[in-house]
Amino acid sequence: MKYVVVSGGVISGIGKGVLASSTGMLLKTQGLKVTSIKIDPYMNIDAGTMSPLEHGECFVLDDGGETDLDLGNYERYLNVTLTKDHNITTGKIYSHVIARERKGDYLGKTVQIVPHLTNAIQEWIERVSRIPVDDTGMEPDVCIIELGGTVGDIESAPFVEALRQFQFRVGKENFSLIHVSLVPVIHGEQKTKPTQAAIKDLRSLGLIPDMIACRCSEQLEQSVIDKIAMFCHVGPEQVVNVHDVNSTYHVPLLLLEQKMIDYLHNRLKLGDIPLTSEDKQRGEQLLIKWKSMTGNFDTSLETVKIALVGKYTHLKDSYLSVIKSLEHSSMKCRRKLDIRWVEATDLEPETQETDKVKFQEAWDKVTTSDGVLVPGGFGVRGTEGMMLAARWARENHIPFLGVCLGLQIAVIEFARDVLGLKEANSTEFLPDLAPENQLVVYMPEIDKEHMGGTMRLGLRPTYFQDDTEWSQIKQLYGNQPSVEERHRHRYEINPDLVDQLESNGLIFVGKDETNKRCEIFELKNHPYFVATQYHPEYTSKVLDPSKPFLGLVAASAGILNEVLEGELEFKSSDGKSDF
Ligand SMILES: *[C@@H]1O[C@H](CO)[C@@H](O)[C@H](O)[C@H]1NC(C)=O
Ligand SMILES: *[C@@H]1O[C@H](CO)[C@@H](O)[C@H](O)[C@H]1NC(C)=O
Ligand SMILES: *[C@@H]1O[C@H](CO)[C@@H](O)[C@H](O)[C@H]1NC(C)=O
Ligand SMILES: *[C@@H]1O[C@H](CO)[C@@H](O)[C@H](O)[C@H]1NC(C)=O
Ligand SMILES: *[C@@H]1O[C@H](CO)[C@@H](O)[C@H](O)[C@H]1NC(C)=O
Repeated sequence: MKYVVVSGGVISGIGKGVLASSTGMLLKTQGLKVTSIKIDPYMNIDAGTMSPLEHGECFVLDDGGETDLDLGNYERYLNVTLTKDHNITTGKIYSHVIARERKGDYLGKTVQIVPHLTNAIQEWIERVSRIPVDDTGMEPDVCIIELGGTVGDIESAPFVEALRQFQFRVGKENFSLIHVSLVPVIHGEQKTKPTQAAIKDLRSLGLIPDMIACRCSEQLEQSVIDKIAMFCHVGPEQVVNVHDVNSTYHVPLLLLEQKMIDYLHNRLKLGDIPLTSEDKQRGEQLLIKWKSMTGNFDTSLETVKIALVGKYTHLKDSYLSVIKSLEHSSMKCRRKLDIRWVEATDLEPETQETDKVKFQEAWDKVTTSDGVLVPGGFGVRGTEGMMLAARWARENHIPFLGVCLGLQIAVIEFARDVLGLKEANSTEFLPDLAPENQLVVYMPEIDKEHMGGTMRLGLRPTYFQDDTEWSQIKQLYGNQPSVEERHRHRYEINPDLVDQLESNGLIFVGKDETNKRCEIFELKNHPYFVATQYHPEYTSKVLDPSKPFLGLVAASAGILNEVLEGELEFKSSDGKSDF
């Protein structure tokens, strides 16, 4: 197993995650199997309880682990499936060591940060890096470790020390370090001092950078590269220039141009890893496919406009996976993506009274978009506005996708307007609702008293129902009998009202294994009106967009039929279809 550690200096939030996942993606193009671990130096154990206002979206894994958005980045770039153990936090590692101490595992010795905690970190890394993450079921060859925070913080000190020891544990040729640093441009001059100081800190802690990735708003001058190399005691080929690019999907190619792979190849003796010619071919194909897909980002001329009707739409991080899914889909459809952020409350009649301009602007955005998306969320605020947007899409034959809460509000809207249940609502918002108006109920099989831990979380199957050959979403999923997607919700459609809804044309084409829970609905006789109770955005991949999102973007661009007929599938240069 080879380890590539990505650490950061100067300041955080300069794209360590993108650099780490791009490096991993490049190693994959060599035919290697790549996994990744994220180290977060803070005490929280579970992101499920963390505020989306502070931390952006809560990302859900197959195993139901709730993490923050970085693991999602790896899954999307590397096309892998990670577990909750792939994220180490200070809190997790401390509670692990304390639990062992309580069990008497340390035989009454004094338990210390060094060596007990640092050993636990190293053992954790070794154990988790071996977990197979793709459908080959084999141990990965390379593990990318992203160390959160900046080197030199109190928070990350035990992890830095553990990694210092780790380089000797696994051997020099199995361990390399990429340090991400910042080169600010001040009065037109590229400044190297912060980078010099960051590398000095790093070396004083016993870590030696193999590559220094310099983030800069512009291309680095050769003299600056030479200066960094000289003052940081590395060769110029070890200084990588990561300037701002149009899209983060271009970063792997930027690194490739600068021969990062050649360097890592020598440094880590990657040639010693036995690879079959099939592996190598798969890697080559991956690179070709990546280039052709991400190349669309700059060249596509036609725009597809999607109105995203949500809450706190100014906090775009809380919809990160949704945005990524739309990006992946529009690259596949060869369209430029224009997301119009619409604050749901702005669509409500109350806003018309209080702020006419805002109301008008919000509706302008919705009515001039090619498609409407209502993503997941919690709470009652804004739901009436979401319903109005869903109604507009339904009545005007505009493509629509609802996710989680988006499904629930679309069903309530339909019940109010088509079934005439004017008081239809969700028991989440109105607990003492009359039974005939309870469209959305607390998961029926679960005792209402138990809060916390009662969410339906993680990967669960959805079965397509009989007589759904007409269904576009089923065709998008390749006409399989069932699909597995990730869930995170507490409320769902009331099974008692399903017949009434279906007889009016809102068809639940996908249900869970009990045939009770409604997972997907679709309207007949509409260009594309689909909603899912699960969160398809969590499994979208750069080269393999989430199907419900692909359907929305394709229908909005007017090319859903081409997509259903497979005409957009990637063809390699010899004309053969993809792998
Ligand atoms: C890792 O887990 C911690 C606690 O669960 C969470 O705060 C952090 O955001 C997670 N990080 C990632 C990358 O998932
Ligand atoms: C992504 O991984 C899945 C399962 O591991 C595989 O079936 C699929 O072909 C991969 N996609 C690409 C584009 O490599
Ligand atoms: C690197 O790892 C391989 C396989 O785990 C091992 O055989 C080799 O001895 C390691 N190299 C060093 C320098 O320890
Ligand atoms: C970035 O996008 C612009 C147009 O949007 C394009 O002209 C330019 O070539 C792109 N830059 C790169 C490096 O691809
Ligand atoms: C649904 O419930 C919410 C929360 O109480 C309320 O604000 C809304 O007016 C209700 N809608 C109808 C049509 O009763």
